[in-house]
Amino acid sequence: MATSWHQLIAEDQFRDVAKIATCVGGWFVLVTGNGDALCAVNDRCPHQAAKLSPGRIRRGTIMCPIHGARFEAATGKSIGGAYPDLRTFEVRITDGMIEVAVPNEPPGTAERPIDD
Ligand code: FES
Repeated sequence: MATSWHQLIAEDQFRDVAKIATCVGGWFVLVTGNGDALCAVNDRCPHQAAKLSPGRIRRGTIMCPIHGARFEAATGKSIGGAYPDLRTFEVRITDGMIEVAVPNEPPGTAERPIDD
């Protein structure tokens, strides 16, 4: 699936906010920091499609704010395997700007959060 890169925020600004929840190309993207690495996942819980971004993010783990499902931020992997893994997106820093690559095709209803 072809993807395109989108600029999100300056790297300097990200250090203050620690996470970004945004919509690019129709995709809802949650970017978090994990040590020196950046991670980007689809901002949608595979259980009941809630946005994950209001949830707690700690030690590289994203916790769904609704029922507590947990996912590895770096890989999108479901911890405990109770739910499908999250879609992940490539993320990079170019000339001080954080960029994310999302598919050129917008997501279908199965990949959009319910409260978009
Ligand atoms: S909606 Fe995320 S765990 Fe239920």
